[in-house]
Amino acid sequence: MDISNPYRCVLVCQYHSCVRKRAAQVLEAFQLAALPEVFVSASNCMGQCSSGSTVYVTPDRTWYSRVQPEDVAEIVMQHLQLNQPVERLLHPRFHPRLDSDD
Ligand code: FES
Repeated sequence: MDISNPYRCVLVCQYHSCVRKRAAQVLEAFQLAALPEVFVSASNCMGQCSSGSTVYVTPDRTWYSRVQPEDVAEIVMQHLQLNQPVERLLHPRFHPRLDSDD
């Protein structure tokens, strides 16, 4: 996962399953953060409906699952400002944990 590129896009799914899991508020929280060099956009379904709200950060290729509005400040500070993905929110399908038995 290369996260050295300062120009990023944060995609927040706004399709049915994710919206039921507060994705609209997640999107709003990212928009309110208004970081320079970070473009925030709604997206259509990203195929991860059972684990929404789904957030994808590009070009980092970082997938977050089960994101709640309360999690956004941590993603903004730790990932988008300090370049350290928030491990506890990484989607296990794309970012399997080496210490996990799953
Ligand atoms: S509804 Fe959000 S990933 Fe499918």
